[in-house]
Amino acid sequence: MKLLEDLNSQQREAVTISPGPVLVLAGPGSGKTRVLAHRIAYLVDHFGVQPKEIMAMTFTNRAAREMAGRVAQLLDKADALHPVSKGGVSLGTFHALCARLLRRESDLLPVSREFVIFNESDQHTLVRQALKEINLDPKQVQPGKVHGMISRAKNELIELEAFEADTYFAEIARRVYQRYQQLLLSNNALDFDDLLLWAVRLFREHDDLLTKYHR
Ligand SMILES: Nc1ncnc2c1ncn2[C@@H]1O[C@H](COP(=O)(O)OP(=O)(O)OP(=O)(O)O)[C@@H](O)[C@H]1O
Ligand SMILES: [Mg+2]
Repeated sequence: MKLLEDLNSQQREAVTISPGPVLVLAGPGSGKTRVLAHRIAYLVDHFGVQPKEIMAMTFTNRAAREMAGRVAQLLDKADALHPVSKGGVSLGTFHALCARLLRRESDLLPVSREFVIFNESDQHTLVRQALKEINLDPKQVQPGKVHGMISRAKNELIELEAFEADTYFAEIARRVYQRYQQLLLSNNALDFDDLLLWAVRLFREHDDLLTKYHR
């Protein structure tokens, strides 16, 4: 089969193993992305998996584009990469796929379906605004540093109520965190960290949702 020709024996094993959990550990540039692209194509071609039942996540946009390009080359079924609504593979970055999930399930969120996504510069603007509102000088307290602390907390799923302020700086961050979240909501906005945080939260709190996406 042509799909397997340009793979070494370990890659071939990872690509052809029956559907189920497989963990591939390999160094930089060793052919991981090639394995993933071939695996997707093999699942569709050989195991008859519906493209829409496949989700592939990458960390960077660049990697997502690369993967999409490779899968498209391998599958002559060009429609396998159509948006999932039309039956294609869900392929994208963690943030992009979470954003898509949140728009679809926006009834469960404090923002509407048309929420905007605040990038780093928007995030810093909000932090500066929050600092001013609590009478702190953004020139004395670096907004980037405050936001870094908020971002780390969100990535550890630490919400405001659980945010421990054991230093003066952390106390500032806690107060900014509170105002920052309010400001996001009043802009109908989520920041990058919220995309992941809310996706985890929805799946944790709504078993029916989890079951739906497991299918
Ligand atoms: N079995 C193979 N035979 C020949 N070339 C290969 C093979 N596997 C991968 N390559 C080539 O090696 C290069 C690196 O492969 P790939 O991008 O899949 O690696 P990676 O582990 O994903 O790399 P990175 O760590 O940069 O993400 C690519 O040009 C790819 O086409
Ligand atoms: Mg890669």
